[in-house]
Amino acid sequence: CGIVGVTGVNNVLPYLLKGLEKLEYRGYDSAGVYVSSDKGGDYLVKEKGRVSALEAKAKKETLIGTAGIAHTRWATHGNVSVANAHPQMSADGRFYLVHNGVIENYLELKKQYLEGVHFESETDTEVAVQLVAKFAKDDNLSGIDAFRKMISLLDGNSAYGFLMMDRREPDVLLTAKKKSPLLIGVSDHGNAVTSDAAAMLDLTQDFIELVDGDVALVKPHEVEIFDESGQKVERKPFHLDIDPADTDKGTYPYYMLKEVDEQAVVARNLSAHYFDEEGNVQGIGCGITDSIKEADRLYIVAAGTSYHAGLVGKRYFEQWAGIPTEVHIASEFAYDQPMLSKKPFFIFLSQSGETADSREVLDNIKRQGFPALTIANVMNSTLTREADFALPVLAGPEIAVASTKAYTAQIIVQAILAYALGDVDLDLKAELAKVAVEISAITDDKDCFKKIADEDLKGQKSAFYIGRGLDAAVALEAALKLKEISYIQTEGFAAGELKHGTISLIEDGTPVFALLTQAKTAGLLRGEVAQVAARGANTIVISSKSLAKEGDAYVLPEVNELLMPLLAVIPAQLIAYYATLARGLDVDRPRNLAKSVTVQ
Ligand code: G6P
Repeated sequence: CGIVGVTGVNNVLPYLLKGLEKLEYRGYDSAGVYVSSDKGGDYLVKEKGRVSALEAKAKKETLIGTAGIAHTRWATHGNVSVANAHPQMSADGRFYLVHNGVIENYLELKKQYLEGVHFESETDTEVAVQLVAKFAKDDNLSGIDAFRKMISLLDGNSAYGFLMMDRREPDVLLTAKKKSPLLIGVSDHGNAVTSDAAAMLDLTQDFIELVDGDVALVKPHEVEIFDESGQKVERKPFHLDIDPADTDKGTYPYYMLKEVDEQAVVARNLSAHYFDEEGNVQGIGCGITDSIKEADRLYIVAAGTSYHAGLVGKRYFEQWAGIPTEVHIASEFAYDQPMLSKKPFFIFLSQSGETADSREVLDNIKRQGFPALTIANVMNSTLTREADFALPVLAGPEIAVASTKAYTAQIIVQAILAYALGDVDLDLKAELAKVAVEISAITDDKDCFKKIADEDLKGQKSAFYIGRGLDAAVALEAALKLKEISYIQTEGFAAGELKHGTISLIEDGTPVFALLTQAKTAGLLRGEVAQVAARGANTIVISSKSLAKEGDAYVLPEVNELLMPLLAVIPAQLIAYYATLARGLDVDRPRNLAKSVTVQ
């Protein structure tokens, strides 16, 4: 979910709505806004679906408010409905609360304290706001003390980013955080609270980071922060150098297409950042390399697309740096920790740096005293802050829910790190320059991928991506891209395994994409393509130049074989994009998903 609040401006609604649009990647099941005016008057508007629906409804309100809070929701407790949308209001109409996170003991609290209170929603958030109202009334507490008391009762595992308003102090925002990210934006013309700085760039580029356990009062000209023990603390703002234009899609119809196209530039930026003129690696401190060299095994932990990037990175750490490497799904590792080696070193891969599943693992392994590096696109995020080391992915803001440039950039950073650790006879800087050129060449072939999407995926309900070795790793990401935005059920498969069961799903015309870039297994993969073709599949082979055969659907330019995933994934991204367009779906905002999942 995304949270935003502003106080001290002349007209708060446009800030809140624009902020919500920028936060929509965190969830878009419903949205809501509460606005008050220091001259009196307020309103609450909520709507199902996208922020644009809320905007249409909210703009009918005539009051010009000077403070307000807003929320875009990714449903956890309670289905998608107006009643379950945030802000949640206390029954007495005094308090309004938005929340990102999960309150684990909300049912117990409801039973213990709120017997007989009327509830409008099924959300844990409404329990929280009703508790505040109850404590304010029954214990005669101030808004902030009642807010604190409510927080003190939350189960230790609960995660929250809270933002609350009290009708009695219409220009004050009350906020608190644990595990969920929250920033306070400060400026001379109003202050703000937001889940992500990108949402408040129109107001300010100066932000204060809250730490777990903090409670803060944000007023038009003043910010007061209290730490977990209730002590007032000073926290210095940091200045964020983001060009607000980076978060706009410009002339592109969708962010995803823009981000696919940006991959060549990102590859070049990474080269410029991580290599000096002579091609030596720079920007990776010896703290990182020394610590990894002491380890006997690397554990890459990640979720979703980042996990898939880790599956590729594993090859670099093993083949270039000679370090055994395991790749784990964060949500599994967190509660089913495998037996570890004697000296493990952890690498967290994350676009957002906020994924709750990965954060849980980082917490666990820190408690066990193991060293960790986070490779993330959003620096200053929780995972980068809390790990011992951090390296930037430098992909720039990625807005489309389907991750593209963060995937290729994460692969490149892993390649550079492994290269820095090892002693391989390779000019990686030169190789990456070639990769950048070839990525551009592939993204220029959009018509070809549109044709494949239109012809081979039209009307299809299911599809396969197959490959061996590195191509199997890319097949998983390729399948995820296609299924998550086009809703065509797609499986990514290690080709050799297909015959052990899944081949029974192949019917006449089932599209089977084969990624064929690894020489060692090319012959075997051709065999597997023949096997599915013999059973009626429509085979679409994407091969690299030296392995290509007549009839292949697309021939990739050739770069170092270990770097071929950086090219092989691009057709898959574009095929997914065009297949989704052809179905008339929203490419950037697939149903049920959120870009940054900050709940477990
Ligand atoms: C969500 C997104 C995925 C993403 C995953 C991990 O599920 O929808 O696209 O890969 O989270 O996110 P992270 O920010 O940690 O890379």
